Order: sequence, then C-alpha cells, then structure tokens
Amino acid sequence: MVVLLLLTSALLSSYAGSMRGVDAQSLFTIRSIALSLEPREDVTRDTNVTVRCGAVVSSSGRQPLSREYTIYKDGVVVYHKTTSSTEDLLYALSRARVSHTGKYKCKISIEGKSASSDARKLTVTGLSPPVLRVEQPMLSEGEELKASCTAPGETGSIIFYFYEDLKEKRDERVNSEHVEVTFPLSGPGHHTIECSYTVLIPPDSLQSEKSSSVHVSVRELSITPVLDIFPQYKVYEGDQLTLSCGVKDLYNHFDSVYVYLSQGTKLLKSGQNQVNHTMKVLAKDSAEFECQLETGNVVKAVTKAVPVTELFSVPTLTMSPVEVFQKESMKLICKSDQDESERLSKGDLTYSIDPPQIHLLESRNGEFSGKALHVEFNYSCIARAKGIEKHSPILTVRPKVLVSTPKISVMNKAVIGKPFKIRCKSDNGSLPINYTLLEDYNPVSVVTVSVPSEEALFNVTVHKPKDIHKFICEASNSRREGLLSLKLDATVIEPLSHPLLMVIPPLPEITEGSDLIFICSIRGTPPVTFKLYRYGYDLPLFTKTSALNHTSFEIHDLVKLHSGMYYFEALNHANNIVSSEPVNIEVRLALWKKIVIGSFCLLALFILVVVCVLCFKSHRAIRAVDRTTVSVWTERPPQASEENSVVSNEPDVEYTEVVHPRSADPARAPQKKGTDTVYSELQNSPHDEADRQPYGSVEYADLNGEQPDMSNYPLNHYHQDLPVPVD
Ligand SMILES: *[C@@H]1O[C@H](CO)[C@@H](O)[C@H](O)[C@H]1NC(C)=O
Ligand SMILES: *[C@@H]1O[C@H](CO)[C@@H](O)[C@H](O)[C@H]1NC(C)=O
Ligand SMILES: *[C@@H]1O[C@H](CO)[C@@H](O)[C@H](O)[C@H]1NC(C)=O
Repeated sequence: MVVLLLLTSALLSSYAGSMRGVDAQSLFTIRSIALSLEPREDVTRDTNVTVRCGAVVSSSGRQPLSREYTIYKDGVVVYHKTTSSTEDLLYALSRARVSHTGKYKCKISIEGKSASSDARKLTVTGLSPPVLRVEQPMLSEGEELKASCTAPGETGSIIFYFYEDLKEKRDERVNSEHVEVTFPLSGPGHHTIECSYTVLIPPDSLQSEKSSSVHVSVRELSITPVLDIFPQYKVYEGDQLTLSCGVKDLYNHFDSVYVYLSQGTKLLKSGQNQVNHTMKVLAKDSAEFECQLETGNVVKAVTKAVPVTELFSVPTLTMSPVEVFQKESMKLICKSDQDESERLSKGDLTYSIDPPQIHLLESRNGEFSGKALHVEFNYSCIARAKGIEKHSPILTVRPKVLVSTPKISVMNKAVIGKPFKIRCKSDNGSLPINYTLLEDYNPVSVVTVSVPSEEALFNVTVHKPKDIHKFICEASNSRREGLLSLKLDATVIEPLSHPLLMVIPPLPEITEGSDLIFICSIRGTPPVTFKLYRYGYDLPLFTKTSALNHTSFEIHDLVKLHSGMYYFEALNHANNIVSSEPVNIEVRLALWKKIVIGSFCLLALFILVVVCVLCFKSHRAIRAVDRTTVSVWTERPPQASEENSVVSNEPDVEYTEVVHPRSADPARAPQKKGTDTVYSELQNSPHDEADRQPYGSVEYADLNGEQPDMSNYPLNHYHQDLPVPVD
C-alpha cells in the first residue's frame, strides 16, 4: 500500500513538470497562409513583381516564434528564409522575364507544424529582341564566320538559332542570355546572317522575333581544279584513256594543294598539285570523272563525263528448243547484238560457255550442242573481243521429266446413274501435263495440270456396271505421243430397288409358339444394310448389314402380340433408302388350344344330345304307355318339317340319284345325297348317337359310293315306305 502511494505521487509530479515546460516554450496555431502576386498576376516584361506570403499565427507565448518560409515555383524551391518577424514574407522578382512565368506557392513551418498556401500563376509576356554581332563582315573562301547572339535580360533555358540566307545553319542551347558560335558559310558571294532564340518554359516554349540582319561577303580563292582527259571524243570501250587532275593558281600564292582524281565513288589517284592516270575504259565506265582540290577548309571540284561507245553488247544466252527433256538434244546460243563494225571485224568476237562444259560442243561460233543433263544447271556464256570480256546473264536449264504411265481410278465411288469423278494421275513428269479421258478410245475431255496441287478429274456418269471399263486415260507433257493408262477397273454401285419382304411359314399358318422368319431381298450392289420395322415403332426391330443382297430375321416363340404390319428398309453405298411393301402378320391360336376349345364344344354338345335323348326316351315311354299303337314316324313331322318339304318337291330326282350312285362328278354326290343323309340320320338316330357328328354326311357319301347296293336297298325301302307313315 505504501509502495502504490509512492508510485502515484511520482507520476503526478512528473506530469505537472512536463505541463509547465510546454507552456514556457509555445502554444500556437497557424490559422492561415496566403500567397499573392504584386502588382498583378499577368504582367509585361521588365515589371518589378513581388511575391507576398502572409501567414496568420496565433500564439500564447511572449517569445517570438521562428518561422521558416519556402517559396516554390512549379514545385521547385526558389526561395527559402527563416525569420522571427511576424511581417509578410516578400520575394522580389525585379524586371520579370517570361522565364518567371509559372505557379507560385508558399509554405510555412513552425516547430514541426507547417501549412501551405494555394498556388498562384504568374504570367509574364514579351521577349526582348535578339542582338546579332559578327566579327568580320568580309571572309575568304574556306574561312568560318564567328557570330554572337544576345537575348538581353532573358533568363532560363534558351536555344539560339543562326540563319544564313534564311536557312537555319546552327543552333545552340545555353542557360544564359548570350552565345558565341563559329560556322562555315556555303560558298563565295554575299550572305545575310540573322539570329533568333527560344525560351523554354516547360511544357511550352516562346519564340522571339528575328534579329536585324548582318551582311557578310565571302571572297573566292584564286585557285581552281583542272581536269584534262584524252581522247575526249569517240571513245570506244577498250581504248586507252589519259586523265590529268591539277590546280590553276592565278596568283601563285598557294604552295601546297592536295588533289583527288575519282571515278564515281572510286578514288583513282591523289597527290599534291597534280596527278596523272591512264586506264583502259569499258562501256560500263561511262561515268563522271571528278578532280577535287583541298586547301585548308576550301574544297573545289570539277567533273567531266566521257561517253564510251560499246564495241559489242553484253551477250545473251538462249536455248533451242525453249524446253528440253532429260537427255534430249539441246542447243545453247550465245550472242552479242550490236557489233561496232567500224572497230570490230568478223571473227574478232569469240564465245565460250561459262563454266566450260564437256557435254556441249561448239558447232558454230556461239552455238553449243549436246544432250541435256538430268538436273537443273545454271549456264552462262562469255563474249570476248580485243581483250574485253562480257558475261551473259545466267540461263537456268531445267530438263523436264517425261510423264510416266498414268493411273486411272474412281474418286470416292461410282454409282449407276449418278455423276462421279474419275482421276487420272502420273507419278512422274514435269508440269504441265495434259490428261485426256477416253471412252471407247474416243477423247471425252482434257484437263491440263499446271501446278502440283492440281488433279486431273473428269465428271462422268455410267448407266451399266460394265460401262466403267470403257474408260482409259492418256497423259502427255511433250510433243511425243501420250501414255495410256490401263482400263478403269472399279466397282460400280447399283442403287437399291425391288425390295421384297417374305415370311416363313406362309401367312395363314403363323401360329403362336412357332418361329417366324422374315426374308428380305433386294436388287442392288451389296453390302446392304437391312432394317426391319414394325408399324407404330420408330426404331427398327432388327438391323443387319449383309454382304449379300438378301438377309433374314427371325422371331422365335411367336405370341399373339407379334401380330402387326412389318416392312423393311434397305440402304447401300448408293445412299438411296428403299422400303418394302408391308406384310401383315397375324398370329393365330396354337393347335392345342384349338383342340382344347373344340373338345370342350364337342363335350358340351354331347352332353346336350344325351340330355335330349334321355328326355325323348322318357317321353316315348310315357306315350307308349298311353297309346301302344303309335309308331316312331308319328313323332317326326314336327321335328323335320323342312326336310319334308324338300322331299315332297323333288321326289323323282332323289330317286334317280339313288339309282345311279356312281356319278361322274364325285363332288356333287354328297350334295345331292343330302336328303338321304337326313333320312339316314333320322333312321339311325335312335340307335347310334355317335353318327351325329358334323362330318357324318361326308362319311356317309363315301360309304354310299363304295357300297351302292347295300345302301340302295334301305334307301329304296325307306323311300317307298316314307309316304305311308306320313299319310
Ligand atoms: C525596379 O527595380 C529596380 C531595382 O531592382 C529599379 O532600378 C527600377 O527602377 C525599378 N523599376 C520600376 C519601374 O520601379
Ligand atoms: C602529268 O602529265 C603532264 C603532261 O601531260 C606532265 O607535265 C606532268 O609532269 C605529269 N605529272 C605527274 C605527277 O606525273
Ligand atoms: C542457279 O542460280 C539460281 C540463282 O540465280 C540459284 O538459286 C540456283 O540454286 C542455281 N542452281 C544451281 C543448280 O546452281
């Protein structure tokens, strides 16, 4: 507790001490700072401008504060002052110049605190006129002019310009108002010299007017170069030419002058006062000769042109014929055109091949014959006369390659009735190659292949497969006979047609549980893609590509649901899709089902008959008890009233038929004996119910045919007896 109290009192005392210290030094604030330009912001040259910087500072202390002022022009410090005065800071720009133009800003710093004023722009206009001075108004040729130019009172970065006869000759950049330069003048005569200057005030520059002009005269020297050439006229190539380059000095006051003799850019000779040169001229030498002297800064020159006449022209090398095939004979002809017959006699001019060729022999002057090489070769020739040699331009001979036997083929595929392309191509042979398509050895069309990327293609159409073999082609690239290809051998695709869909087993026998085979066949070139569809389904049931033009699809264990319309589509490389006629498949009930159903029907019928017979018998038994004299036949009429009417209508026919039972037409027999059947059944019905099945009548007819006598008897008997019970 005691320790804590001690610590607190120590802290408090140190805080009080520091507060007293601050108070003693200064308590101040910079309230404002402002910069102004006096008398104005826009002034003319030579105005005395004052930059005023005023700061308002409030302070509590009695001692004056040390104020640090800084004045900036375009961000660069131009003035710095530390003062304890509270008065405004003044920065004087006496006799302002355009270089004083710029943005001025002022900053005050007091004990680490600082404040800046807003910027003010000073614009000074007007440049003083430049003043030109030259040292000597008279110069000798080769002497340089010494001149000075002044921009009175101007400050800053200045570029001075000197002009000779209005053309700028020299410029110099300095940081002062005065410059001195030395420069050569263009030549003898009177010249007008002027100067001007530019003050740089980035980013701008100000151009002064031009100074008043000063006239300077340049006196010509008394020496001149002299060029003598011999001969001067009718100079032919190969002639000797003598040249002399010297100096003419009017007053003989130059001891040493250096001379240069040159032809074009080639220096022929140089030396003191005079040089001589001898040379054999060539036609291409028809250039200018120049003689130049140099003394001090003086350079003088004289030129002369010498026209040189050609004795003979540059030869040209040509080949005959223009094109040559490998190892064929060729002739190179070297010839110079314009013979100067005045100087050159026949036989003076000789020719040779360059480089010399063993395979070429000179047959006549300038003609060289031999066999063409296998490869490209650059030939040149030389014409010579009187020690002069002239080379011809290079002749590049490219021996051509004879065409090789062409190959004929079909591009893509040949489809009957559709246009397709036949290609004819030789593996070797220089272009251009002419390809001719022949059909049955008659030219059909010609294609010329001139660039390697080209191909000889012919459009044709065939209507029969064997027509394709009629085509051959011929290739030729020379005057020789062309080479023939083999006959065109290619598969011709026959478009598909005649689609036929068949089924096994035949339609009515398609029953449940059996297998169904669809046989698709078509005319056209295989491979063929077959697709079997069923009506109502977008996707094919089966798809098969066959190498033959028929195929089959099988459905095993048919069920009723397989019933429907089926058809197939076929496609081959001719790209025509053909569809077959649809086939209606109806799956019938299986045989065992029929038998079961039939059996049930029969059973039902049998039960019915048994019931009926039982009923009948019981009824008769009751009747017999009632009336013992009643016969079987009395019951019949209501049971078979229809049969009765038939019998009564055709009694004779019935009879005749029975007499001649072996009718020629067996088919008719059962029909005619329908009545007999009825009776037979009627008679038999009480005795044998099994006979009353549907096929009963047929069986009876057969029996009747086989045993006429046996059946006749009961029939006749019944027939005769028949009316008796009825009546
Ligand atoms: C400008 O100031 C200079 C001295 O710096 C003085 O000689 C001159 O007379 C002044 N010019 C004017 C117009 O006040
Ligand atoms: C050049 O030739 C002339 C005569 O044409 C002669 O007088 C002179 O001495 C020769 N100069 C030289 C340097 O050979
Ligand atoms: C022939 O000269 C041409 C240039 O003129 C050159 O490109 C070519 O390669 C030369 N041929 C041979 C075989 O030297």
